[in-house]
Amino acid sequence: MKILAIESSCDETAVAVLEVNGQNYKVLANLVSSQINIHKKYGGIVPEVAARKHVENIIPLLEEAKITASDIDIIGVVNGPGLVTSLIVGLETAKTLSLLWQKPLVPVNHIKAHIQANWLKGDSGSLQNILFPAISLIVSGGHTSLVSLSDKCKFKVVGETRDDAVGEAFDKVAKLLDLGYPGGPIVSQKAINGDPHKYKLPRPMIDAKNFEFSFSGLKTAVRYEIDKIKTIDDQVIQDMSASFQQAAIEVLIKKTIKATQKYKAKSVLLGGGVSANNELRLQLEKAVDELDGVKFYQPDLELTTDNALMVAISAYFEYSENKAKYVNAWKKVKVNPNLEI
Ligand code: KG4
Ligand code: ZN
Repeated sequence: MKILAIESSCDETAVAVLEVNGQNYKVLANLVSSQINIHKKYGGIVPEVAARKHVENIIPLLEEAKITASDIDIIGVVNGPGLVTSLIVGLETAKTLSLLWQKPLVPVNHIKAHIQANWLKGDSGSLQNILFPAISLIVSGGHTSLVSLSDKCKFKVVGETRDDAVGEAFDKVAKLLDLGYPGGPIVSQKAINGDPHKYKLPRPMIDAKNFEFSFSGLKTAVRYEIDKIKTIDDQVIQDMSASFQQAAIEVLIKKTIKATQKYKAKSVLLGGGVSANNELRLQLEKAVDELDGVKFYQPDLELTTDNALMVAISAYFEYSENKAKYVNAWKKVKVNPNLEI
């Protein structure tokens, strides 16, 4: 089966073509057109600008992927969560192709797709054999959640953030340190040579008896520390970045391990843009390795931030569960900026 997938929920326009044959798969195209350089000027994403750029980018990307109707069996597209005007561009494009080519349209939840990216490893290979129950830690610019999975397409949120997402906290700390946008990659780069114990920062809700998170207080604590310092030189930036990153990671790891134990999970899956963070990858892997009989999965680096390949594998799994549901789906699928798992 060949899946064409489209993703336009935020500031990346992405198109992918994935071929799945039983347990084997092959990546035929995986294209991402990033708008980071445009939004950098504004210090964050401007929804109106993002949508217009998606309109400009989507057809050239489809052309570059070199697909024709006869190549494709199904079309997968993200219909939420995300920015409403950005989502509409991808969905209307996918609906048009679905009608024109008479191919099933499979709406995909962006967050589920981040989790399901874990079934892929490399450009060509076998789908990972992930055992259930599984616990997934989703960390992105808009979400921070712990999700339990009883199967590939059976999800239940067990806890989420009460305020800021962890990616958002990275972005805000970068702003406080005048490092530019998006903050995650820059803060994690600065943290490499910093002292993670230099500044005493809180670990919000680390001992709470639930799986909820809160990152807005941590960001405020960083601001208070910065206000106390006379000169913000590169040493301060490195130490503050490392201290903030370590505080955030410790909370994420402790809660993930607790959830893994409570739900007797056999697998732990990391996902979302912040899963590009090297320290989080290393420290969570180590923590999971210390548990008996639990396997750790993390997406390939290029599948951590927004991409369409994760949408393709998600569409494939959903379609395989209930083919009839998607035959004329183009008539009724709508975007939902607040789509939940
Ligand atoms: O999943 P994603 O690409 O978009 C959303 O669905 O939100 O995640 C983007 C988020 C941004 O907040 C960005 O700063 C963060 O992921 N991010 C990182 C790193 N790379 C991206 N955060 C920490 N460390 C990184 N290396
Ligand atoms: Zn995302």
